[in-house]
Amino acid sequence: MLSAGWWPTKSTPRREEYLGPTACAECHPSEAAAQKTTPMAQACIHAANSKILAAHQRLSYRATPYVYDLTRVGGASLFSVRNGERSDSAILEWAFGAGVVSETYVFQRNRTFYESQLSYFTALQALDITPGRHAAPSADLGEALGRPIAVDEVRLCFGCHNTASSAGGQFDPEHLIPGITCEACHGPGAKHAAAMKEGRIADGLMQVLNPAKLGPFDSVDFCGACHRTWADVVESRAEGIATVRFQPYRLELSRCWGKGDTRITCLGCHDPHLPVVHDSGFYDSRCLRCHLATKGASGASDHPGAACPQSTKDCTTCHMPKLEVPGTHAKFTDHRIRIVRSLGNAQ
Ligand code: HEC
Ligand code: HEC
Ligand code: HEC
Ligand code: HEC
Ligand code: HEC
Ligand code: HEC
Ligand code: HEC
Repeated sequence: MLSAGWWPTKSTPRREEYLGPTACAECHPSEAAAQKTTPMAQACIHAANSKILAAHQRLSYRATPYVYDLTRVGGASLFSVRNGERSDSAILEWAFGAGVVSETYVFQRNRTFYESQLSYFTALQALDITPGRHAAPSADLGEALGRPIAVDEVRLCFGCHNTASSAGGQFDPEHLIPGITCEACHGPGAKHAAAMKEGRIADGLMQVLNPAKLGPFDSVDFCGACHRTWADVVESRAEGIATVRFQPYRLELSRCWGKGDTRITCLGCHDPHLPVVHDSGFYDSRCLRCHLATKGASGASDHPGAACPQSTKDCTTCHMPKLEVPGTHAKFTDHRIRIVRSLGNAQ
């Protein structure tokens, strides 16, 4: 285990302590080949590398009195807004979100970062208002283009979507490693790799965090460093349907969670090195680690959960419903495992 106490989004290690995923691939080829195909690995990219922007030479949107255009000029993307004679524009710098649901753009002006007023939504194949932004037109043309992101917030924003965007205690987006790569979860790897190259195995293992060794609460909070912990959700006072995106919070509301159990941490159902599995049958065996498969089957002490009177398969289709979160044009899986009386009981 890492002796220095690594945790995702920690900003104290120096930039030189990070190697980037290619260096890890040398000794861990299977994790490396798989992980780069995940949406997490693509959670942020340079706008120039966005497949969505490259595939659309021009995207337009109208929010009276404003007319927006997002045009590809060479390898760059120009985001512009017009109101009659007046207009304003910016070159997009970063694309946040792997595009599973959406892609939101970030640009800079006078060293301030801005979040684009419009995002690309995969379900619509078009631009629409960025979640959390008001559709009501702003009087100020610059603000109609995007929202200035406060310094503290921009750090968090890059920190949850990239690797080493802050290092040595400083926000340093120039030198970040785009997306959630190995060291975002396992901690900076230079010392680990150097020790392993010299055959100092025990020392090398001390220099890297293997989250498999965390207890259930810490394990869920580990993923919650970005997916939001219980404490984050309570503190932000988010409530109702909006909390469906915060899986650690929703999961811990379930009766299945009880007092925590390694069989029901995020790792009980997800391999963070692989894209999420969409086949509901895959999850049945996860539920049946605790629930008896049939009513009347002899109870076992490691099966604290009852059997289902309704079905023996596709458990998640009924007990983990997919709910539309307003503004996102997408459905998210409710991790509050429960008997669903009506789809409205999202609280
Ligand atoms: C020179 C080879 C080498 C390089 C480069 C390397 N590792 Fe390792 N790594 C090892 C060896 C050897 C082990 C121990 C045996 C095993 O579990 O495969 C290990 C184990 C691990 C473990 C499990 C630790 C545990 O406590 O079980 C993790 C996590 C890990 N490496 C991550 C990384 C990451 C992230 C990188 C890139 C920054 C990286 N490694 C680069 C050789 C290497
Ligand atoms: C450093 C931040 C960070 C950490 C730590 C993190 N995630 Fe993520 N994760 C993200 C972001 C950002 C996305 C959204 C990616 C996208 O679609 O743009 C995501 C997406 C996902 C997805 C959806 C992927 C898909 O295929 O659609 C799963 C599943 C997931 N994370 C599981 C986990 C698990 C399990 C852990 C803990 C082991 C974890 N994450 C830790 C930031 C993080
Ligand atoms: C506390 C960590 C955190 C912060 C801060 C954060 N995000 Fe995220 N973001 C996530 C996670 C985790 C997901 C995946 C959620 C899910 O799939 O339910 C996500 C999803 C997204 C998505 C949707 C991607 C997709 O297609 O699924 C976009 C776009 C996005 N974030 C943009 C931003 C922008 C822009 C900022 C800053 C202004 C920001 N995020 C701040 C953690 C964070
Ligand atoms: C989103 C977080 C996350 C990312 C990104 C990530 N890992 Fe992991 N990794 C984990 C977790 C969690 C475990 C423990 C998994 C388990 O045992 O179920 C793990 C386990 C490992 C192990 C130990 C495997 C074993 O069988 O003991 C190695 C080696 C490893 N990861 C290497 C990598 C490498 C290399 C990358 C980048 C290509 C990477 N990881 C990216 C979270 C992550
Ligand atoms: C760690 C063990 C564990 C896992 C894994 C688990 N459960 Fe549970 N579940 C429990 C316990 C314990 C209870 C509460 C005791 C009881 O009602 O038997 C429970 C309760 C339930 C309930 C009743 C909830 C209510 O509101 O009354 C449902 C439905 C349920 N589980 C479905 C599932 C499904 C579906 C899965 C897989 C997606 C799953 N469980 C995974 C342990 C688990
Ligand atoms: C009992 C199994 C189970 C557990 C435990 C679990 N998930 Fe999931 N997760 C699922 C299922 C099922 C889906 C939906 C897969 C599909 O159909 O696309 C999903 C989807 C996701 C997605 C994709 C976005 C969405 O809403 O569909 C993210 C992100 C995610 N899970 C994160 C997490 C995190 C973080 C944890 C730990 C707090 C966690 N999951 C624990 C079963 C689980
Ligand atoms: C077709 C929808 C559906 C599927 C699929 C389904 N369930 Fe259920 N389940 C229900 C309903 C509805 C109830 C409420 C009990 C009732 O009214 O019969 C329930 C009740 C439960 C309970 C509570 C039982 C009790 O006595 O407290 C558990 C636990 C459970 N299901 C687990 C599972 C597991 C595990 C699976 C997969 C093997 C599963 N369910 C598949 C609909 C479903």
